[in-house]
Order: sequence, then C-alpha cells, then structure tokens
Amino acid sequence: MGIRSRLKQLVEKALRVGLKEEFDSLRQEIQERHQPQIEKLDEISQSLKPKFFSKPGASYQEFWDNMAATREGACYGVAGLPFGLPATNESLKLHGEPTARVIIESLGIDAEHSVLEVGVGIGRLAEHIAPHCREFYGVDISSRMLNLARERLKDLGNVHLQQLTNDDLRIFPKDRFDRIFFQIVLVHLDREDIFNYLRESFRVLKKGGKGYFQFYNLLHEKGFREFLNSANATATSGGKSRGRVHCYTAPEVRKLIEEAGFTIDEANSHLEMVEQKFNYRFPEGYWDDYLQRIRAILRNSGLNEEEQNAHFDEIKKGIIYSAPDADWEYYLIAVGDKN
Ligand SMILES: C[S@@+](CC[C@H](N)C(=O)[O-])C[C@H]1O[C@@H](n2cnc3c(N)ncnc32)[C@H](O)[C@@H]1O
Repeated sequence: MGIRSRLKQLVEKALRVGLKEEFDSLRQEIQERHQPQIEKLDEISQSLKPKFFSKPGASYQEFWDNMAATREGACYGVAGLPFGLPATNESLKLHGEPTARVIIESLGIDAEHSVLEVGVGIGRLAEHIAPHCREFYGVDISSRMLNLARERLKDLGNVHLQQLTNDDLRIFPKDRFDRIFFQIVLVHLDREDIFNYLRESFRVLKKGGKGYFQFYNLLHEKGFREFLNSANATATSGGKSRGRVHCYTAPEVRKLIEEAGFTIDEANSHLEMVEQKFNYRFPEGYWDDYLQRIRAILRNSGLNEEEQNAHFDEIKKGIIYSAPDADWEYYLIAVGDKN
C-alpha cells in the first residue's frame, strides 16, 4: 500500500475515534483567548502585502529580486506569512521539513542521487533535502534569493548554488541529474515558460530520472481563490503583474508533463481531487501552543504511536503551505519519469 493510502487510512481511524471534535474545540478555545493578538497579526499581514506588489511588465528576475531586497521580503516570497507572521527560522523549518519529506519520498531520493531544485529561493527545502543526496544543485533567477541561500546553507558541503540568466537550464548539459523538482515556482510562471522548463527538465535528467512538479488546482476552492486574487490584482493594478499565481486543472497538468516527454508516475503523483476530511483552522500565530496540545491529546487518544505520528503529520500538512487549513488537494503534484 502506498504511503498516501496508508496515511489516509490511519487518519480516517483517528477521525473515527472522535479527535476532530476535540481539536476543533481546542482551536476555538485558543482562538478566543488570543483574539486580540490575532487581530493585530491580521493588521501586520495586510501592511506587508502591498509592499511587494510588482509593476506590470517586470521580468521574473526584477520581480523576485525586488521581493528579496530584504530578508523579510525574501521570506515572504518563499513562505508567505506563516500563521499571519513574518517567517522565523523556526516557522520556515516547520513548513520546510515536512514538505521536503514529501519530495524525498515522492522522488525516492537516495544518497547516490544528484538532485536539482529549480527556484531554490533561500534554501528552505534544500536545507532538508541536501543531507539525503550525493550532490544538491539549487538554481534561481534571483541573485538576492541566492545570496540568502548561500548564507543559510554554508555548512552543507554538497550544495552548489547557481544563478540562471535565462528562464531555462542551458547551463547544464543533458543527462546530468537523477532528480529534479520545482516547488511553488511553476505556479508563478506563464504557461509557455512552464512548458519550456518541463522540456528542459526532461533534457537534463538522466534516463530513469524523475521530476517533481507542483501546481495549484483551479478546481479547488482555495485554488480558485488564488486565481481570483490574480484576476482582481490585474484589474486594479493596470496590467498583469509578474509573479502572479496561475492555477491549472489536472488534465492540463497531465498534458503538459506528457508532452514534455515524461510518463506520469501515478503512484507518487497527486492529480486527483481528494475528498476533504480535514479543515482545521489553525489559530494564527499560536501554532506552537496548539501543536503541543494536539500532541498531548494524541498521547491520550488510545492510538498507537505510528497512528499518532501519522495523524500529527497530517495536521502539520495544514501548516506546510502557510495555509491555515489542511487542504492539500489544493496542490496538484505530478511526478514524471524519464523512461
Ligand atoms: C515561492 S519561491 C519558492 C522557493 C523554494 N522552492 C521553496 O519552496 O522554498 C519561488 C522561487 O522561484 C524563483 N523563480 C521565479 N521565477 C523563476 C524563473 N523563471 N526561473 C527560475 N527561478 C525562478 C524565485 O526567485 C523564488 O526564489
């Protein structure tokens, strides 16, 4: 049985033992207790967002370098405002680690592999993936993002960071890497640029290599909300802003991946809409308190350790993407094989 179905089974069991009600009432209690601070956090997020808005017509490099002009901006660019607050090392880790684990498992990354991340940002994922492979290459269009990544990853001897001067992978020869991945990168690109990167991925992968490509699902309520934000911003800012989010449907993703030459690895892809079982609203800014108390509830739940851990991981998924609810079907993940 695949990891996802096993996880789903364990989580369903946890639901049957009635934990959701307990978590929901805990959330409500924490939310009420911290309401005044939560309102303050909302203000902070509202005040930060307009700062990073791009002018229409900017290049990817201009947009992302502008975003990464400060460390705070760079963190906003890669992680949003986790729990309504500017990212800290701790919250970056809380997002980055489980996301990295999903990528490692989906791609079957091992100690022999040469891995390439396109759009490495400040190294939020590289930090957790590089220790699991032979060599890790991180490339990005933004030199400022890379400067921050260099600083953050300086103790990892197998990490190589390089700037891209074009929206392609021409700096690498064909058949160079065992694994390649894009996380929260393709969603910010125009459709043609996505397709070119997919073809480039196919070229630089060795035969037998694998790619992980993440998109947002237009048909999911939250994906549509993202699309609406882009549409509204286009209407009010006098043109299409660079870096805006694009959303896709599963058949579109399949088509692009397959036309680029890949065979979709169905077992490790996530291209279907999954019935949503979880909708935990996280008390923004107070996740630490919340998670510790969830751990305590799980310890007394009668679930065995494996089930407790699976359930805890599932809850943390809601945190992974700065999203306050655990709606991972909002993501479309295609894992492609170069056969
Ligand atoms: C949202 S961040 C994600 C960073 C990292 N993948 C992570 O998940 O933490 C998007 C990154 O993609 C980079 N990027 C944007 N457009 C790009 C392009 N055309 N080519 C390469 N990198 C690009 C940005 O500079 C930024 O570092």
